[in-house]
Amino acid sequence: MNNPTEILKQLMQSAAGQISTAATVADLEKIRVAVLGRKGELTVISKTLGTLAPEDRAEAGQLLNKAKATLEQSIDERKQALQSSESSQLLKAEWMDLTVPPSGISPGHIHPVTQVQDEIEQLFISMGFRVLDGPEVETEYYNFDALNIPPDHPARDMQDTFWLTDGHLLRTHTSPVQVRALQKFGAPIRMIAPGRVFRNEEVDASHEHTFYQVEGMMVDRDVSVGHLLHFMQTLLSSVFGRKVTVRLRPGYFPFVEPGFELDINCLICGGNGCAVCKQSGWVELLPCGLVHPNVLTNSGLDPQEWNGFAFGLGLTRLAMMRYAVDDIRLMQSGDLRFLNQF
Ligand code: PHE
Repeated sequence: MNNPTEILKQLMQSAAGQISTAATVADLEKIRVAVLGRKGELTVISKTLGTLAPEDRAEAGQLLNKAKATLEQSIDERKQALQSSESSQLLKAEWMDLTVPPSGISPGHIHPVTQVQDEIEQLFISMGFRVLDGPEVETEYYNFDALNIPPDHPARDMQDTFWLTDGHLLRTHTSPVQVRALQKFGAPIRMIAPGRVFRNEEVDASHEHTFYQVEGMMVDRDVSVGHLLHFMQTLLSSVFGRKVTVRLRPGYFPFVEPGFELDINCLICGGNGCAVCKQSGWVELLPCGLVHPNVLTNSGLDPQEWNGFAFGLGLTRLAMMRYAVDDIRLMQSGDLRFLNQF
């Protein structure tokens, strides 16, 4: 029974059984060391080859090499099988759904003014207007002079101005972008310029020192009040999703002639009177008119050749109408109880 060939056969059988039932890669490694390691059973057998008769030695050596190769191969195969099932178990155990939103964190909301602004931009872009920006810190020239409001003109008092110590000012309206746009792009042009404006005035339910307007202007040949009305009606029915009652009054602005005030029926009280409409039932929403020839001249255009319309939409007020917000101060409050509703 101490014939190495016999011992080898037995070893092969028991090793094969252990390999096929090894439960983990670590167990398998123990088996490998016990059989093939430096002091392993197979190594020990190989050292007994010297005791064989020379004619048997070669055959036994071959058998031994074959056995070694067979064992190595079956250990490898078993190892791969164990590894893949171990890693798939690990994947199953540690799987998590990365798309599940974390609990307790509420997502942000788009501010109501931004929502209405986005809509207005899309509408005007679809009608061939470009969307422009202008600086919030303006020069006296663009905010007043270029718009046909000379230094001692009473119209300057209509808009209480925040002056900076260096002679600049916080723009009181978006109208300066009219002149900037004409100087930069010339005519014909269709543009809107949404943005923040500032006025040094008493704050109450319908007045803020900081609010948003959308300036709009179209300059071309033969632009009429008819064009103006068409675009204003398209704008309002799109924003409110229905026909809104409007009225047109003559309005005075030095940079338009003729100038108008477009009012809409107060959507908060339905025209009965409330704090927002100052009990009048009407809300001043859209001052507008035909671009004054002096503005065209100041912008480098010949008023004999070009004319146009312009409007200055009260974006903050429009958002208030749209979402029935009855106090303008909520818009800038940063109050989450307010913002979470949008
Ligand atoms: N800029 C004016 C304002 O803020 C509004 C306006 C714009 C009026 C364009 C007429 C034309 O009061």
